[in-house]
Amino acid sequence: MLTDAVIAAPLTGFAADVRAGLTKAGQKELPSKYLYDALGSKLFEAICELPEYGLTRADARLLQGHAHEIASQVSGDVLVCELGSGSGRKTRWILEAMARRRHIRYFPIEISAEALAVCQRELADIESVGIVGLEREYLDGLLEVAARRSEGQRLVVLFLGSTIGNFSDPADANFLRDIRRILQAGDVLVLGTDLVKPVVQLVDAYDDPLGITAAFNLNLLARINRELDANFVLSQFEHEARFNSATQSVEMHLRSLRTQTAGISKAHLTVSFEAGETIWTENCHKYSPAEVRQKTKTAGFDLQAQWIDDDWLFAESLLVADVE
Ligand code: TRP
Repeated sequence: MLTDAVIAAPLTGFAADVRAGLTKAGQKELPSKYLYDALGSKLFEAICELPEYGLTRADARLLQGHAHEIASQVSGDVLVCELGSGSGRKTRWILEAMARRRHIRYFPIEISAEALAVCQRELADIESVGIVGLEREYLDGLLEVAARRSEGQRLVVLFLGSTIGNFSDPADANFLRDIRRILQAGDVLVLGTDLVKPVVQLVDAYDDPLGITAAFNLNLLARINRELDANFVLSQFEHEARFNSATQSVEMHLRSLRTQTAGISKAHLTVSFEAGETIWTENCHKYSPAEVRQKTKTAGFDLQAQWIDDDWLFAESLLVADVE
């Protein structure tokens, strides 16, 4: 007898990750990297302009103020790569400072093709800097840059904006170790980390009165609707930012306002939500300066310098891969 059953191809990429996250026992989750599609990247750029979100400006102030000190730490021939460059705006000062005396190559590594295009365009005018954009995940991109290194060249890795805080403990330490394994002793890592600060200030930063952050978070469901043929009703979910004092993290959730189900065709899934149930979309850990030193030490880096912005507690750490 003929049957019309079709053996579906295994899910990959976005569909597979959405399915895994929404069928997890207990707390439902979605990986935060999917927040950054074309619209999400633009909304994130808008978040960085918000008065309540001081993080990006603090990062930029520190990089601008200490660009020459950072550049003077690395002599000779360098390859600069940036994990998650975004538009690359904050990177200009370091590149200009480094390219003063020599030609350098800069590899922005980005999963957002749109952000990468903006970055390449915005920084194209800097003299003595050759830009090669890599549309890759962080470690894949870093491996590729490392493979292009020739004898005697140093790698300078920029990991700015406190993205490291989006890896929950101990994944942050593991990720630093993964970076270290690709590097050679003497290579440099410039690491941005947002620091612990009063809870009200943190919650405001992640739940602004204009609702841009809410739109950024909800866009993840909109993206699932667009790309995976799903039918999430966005008005039936709300953005929530909550501080978890046990983990010193701001957690981002999408809260279901009622009992409901959503179908996600391309993930072969119908998912049910109870009223009040949440999907966890992001974790933003806030560090102490000592914690940065200790975690990077364990991962194989020596802290050479650390600068802290007083207006918005944020640290820029200059780390050197140690001799194992
Ligand atoms: N994850 C980044 C941070 O820690 C970016 C971000 C800002 C973000 N606001 C957000 C991520 C809201 C998810 C939801 O600052």
